[in-house]
Amino acid sequence: MTPDIESLIRAASGRPDEIRAALDKLGLARVAELAVAEWTLRLDPPSNPLEIHIGLSVSDGRETADHTWVLRAGEPVRVLPGLHPGCEVRLRYDAEELITELWGPSRGRSSPSRAYELATAMDTHFPPRERQPSIAAASATLTAALSARAPDLGALAVRYGSDKWGQTHWFTQHYERHFAPLREEPVRLLEIGVGGYENEESGGGSLKMWRRYFPRASVFGLDYFDKSRFSGPRLTVVRGDQNDPAQLDALAKEHGPFDIVIDDGSHINEHVLTSFRALFPYVRSGGFYVIEDLWTSYLPGYGGDDRDFGVPTTMLGLLKTLLDDLHHQERDSDGEPSRDTAGEPSATEAGLVGMHVYHNIAFLEKGRNAEGGIPRWMPRAPHW
Ligand SMILES: C[S@@+](CC[C@H](N)C(=O)[O-])C[C@H]1O[C@@H](n2cnc3c(N)ncnc32)[C@H](O)[C@@H]1O
Repeated sequence: MTPDIESLIRAASGRPDEIRAALDKLGLARVAELAVAEWTLRLDPPSNPLEIHIGLSVSDGRETADHTWVLRAGEPVRVLPGLHPGCEVRLRYDAEELITELWGPSRGRSSPSRAYELATAMDTHFPPRERQPSIAAASATLTAALSARAPDLGALAVRYGSDKWGQTHWFTQHYERHFAPLREEPVRLLEIGVGGYENEESGGGSLKMWRRYFPRASVFGLDYFDKSRFSGPRLTVVRGDQNDPAQLDALAKEHGPFDIVIDDGSHINEHVLTSFRALFPYVRSGGFYVIEDLWTSYLPGYGGDDRDFGVPTTMLGLLKTLLDDLHHQERDSDGEPSRDTAGEPSATEAGLVGMHVYHNIAFLEKGRNAEGGIPRWMPRAPHW
């Protein structure tokens, strides 16, 4: 499913003929099926107390593909094939416009391009009053989901059951600060740690949160346990061990490079350092490698150290080392700046351009760290 959606996301950024070509390649039925799945996963929980049927007709000028949503507060949203005879509302879309609206950049679009048809519109007698608020609420739920703007990330964390906001962690404010500029990009995001540990039914909260926050992203999750039940549109879950560099390399070769990698896995210091060394090279320029739960740096049970804070084997030890890598062009190990030595810079020396460390979470910014050291003619000691 995800490769088909990725082809639509690519096409939706392009010219109309590229969108048409993608539509022709996948066929109307497949595109409508993917669009309904995408639209449905973006829905806020319905608030309409009465059950409401809303139809969607997608046309490519030759054929039409129909589906019906069934919405009611407190119940999971259902999708039925075809148009249900009891549809209170029917939305009509041109297939190319729907692709653009769902998967293209918003480009400041303020209103959707659909036709909204109320089943009772042509009646001359007043429709049943008790159904009107529910029809309005269900319509609002559906149309809000097409907006590129999602509720704030903390609210999404709570909604999907991620612990990145509330009680123990206050991370989403930092994520929004760094990720907001990427919001409309077709980012590739990998998170280590799907959640739920041995319970294969449990977890997936943050992956769903990311998929909703980045409407054009391809999201990947890695977990030690089988979490394949959470795979779906734009979301691929892989089983593997974050402490095995060969597995990480194979994963990154198949699904990377990534714009964002987040480590919310075991929080065992050795594992975090292994994953960072294996995956940082697969982060794209302009992207981020994020490490959560830095507090286990101080826990011997996690391979941390509660006495010697300078050891390089903990996450905070790694960050302290990386500060020096960031400044490798200034280092003067044998009396000369290291940029003049023959050795090639390491992956982190060459590719780390920013470090943003907050309480318990670090954002490492990837780029080209080659702006040059301070010139040799600058005095190496105060001369006044
Ligand atoms: C804190 S939970 C992730 C929570 C999730 N990211 C969220 O915010 O909703 C940590 C997950 O890491 C997984 N994990 C533990 N050790 C791992 C390893 N060595 N490799 C991959 N995943 C691991 C656990 O199975 C667990 O599901």
